[in-house]
Amino acid sequence: MSFKVSVPATGHSFTVNEGETILEAAIREGLGLPYGCRNGACGKCAGELISGEIDYQQELRSAALAEAEAGKTLFCQACAKSDLKIAVREITQSGDIEIKTLPCRVEHMKLLSHDVMQLKLKLPETERLQFMAGQYIEILLRDGKRRAFSIANAPHDDEFIELQIRHVPDGQFGDFVFDGLKEKALMRIEGPLGSYYLREDSDRPIILMGGGTGYAPLKGMLEHAFYTDLQRPIHLYCGVRSLRDLYMHDQVTAWAEQHDNLSYTPVLSQPEPDDNWQGETGLVHEKVVADHPDLSSYDVYMSGPPPMIKAGMDLFYAHGLPESQIYSDSFEYSDDALRAMGITKPAS
Ligand code: FES
Repeated sequence: MSFKVSVPATGHSFTVNEGETILEAAIREGLGLPYGCRNGACGKCAGELISGEIDYQQELRSAALAEAEAGKTLFCQACAKSDLKIAVREITQSGDIEIKTLPCRVEHMKLLSHDVMQLKLKLPETERLQFMAGQYIEILLRDGKRRAFSIANAPHDDEFIELQIRHVPDGQFGDFVFDGLKEKALMRIEGPLGSYYLREDSDRPIILMGGGTGYAPLKGMLEHAFYTDLQRPIHLYCGVRSLRDLYMHDQVTAWAEQHDNLSYTPVLSQPEPDDNWQGETGLVHEKVVADHPDLSSYDVYMSGPPPMIKAGMDLFYAHGLPESQIYSDSFEYSDDALRAMGITKPAS
């Protein structure tokens, strides 16, 4: 059995299934409601029930209980027992989300390629990080410096925060991750940050272009698109140097087979003879315009090394892409993080 939940103030509505919380249903249908813990502890998902009947999944705790006693409804715990009308603050842009500083623990580490490490970070039991698909966090180091990394998972799948960290030559943090970091290590993070996230209020086809670990935020966007059943055509381009740099290739290939609206083109700039590569070669942004010479009707997202972003922007503008339809993470990072990458932020 399912029920309809309407938000009269915005005219939005969504369907909630039996056993599903109102917050879960909203996330599944791509509607942003605020939350902090998703387990009935913090009270941040509180809103108003205008009409209809709800039931709580479990006993509310502390801050959440106080909100409920004040007549509010905790949408992360409430299930619908009839059609509902609710009043709630909607999250429509990254600026609507609270930026938090949180402790976390390195729960899993996995080598994705010869120089890319996947980290899965676990937050305290009573915390979840709300974010939009494609945003990033900063790891706060003991010396006061920060390192920025894109979140590689989708917002609904938030048991862990997934990062993909490349071991760059002379990169001190990469050295630490590859040589010193162990599972169970504790860290502090700040996030979510940045305005690089998937815009869902457009119906244009999407081009995602990632260079190296620039694939990480695109993976989050793709998983979010699949989860919310986004029907817009998506063409993913991944640019790397040679075959050994192409990570998660099998997973993306499988996704492209499962989802009719996803096309996938990996592009190697310098394949090794042993790679026996039969696919596309060259510069990834040049392959994008070879396939799509008129970009005027696309939304383009690109993440990766700043020279690739710069070259991509120049070429894409020349191929008709309006400035308002291009999104990149190139200069989203803190000054510290940019300095660590050897990049100087342009004066704005
Ligand atoms: S998100 Fe914390 S109580 Fe609902």
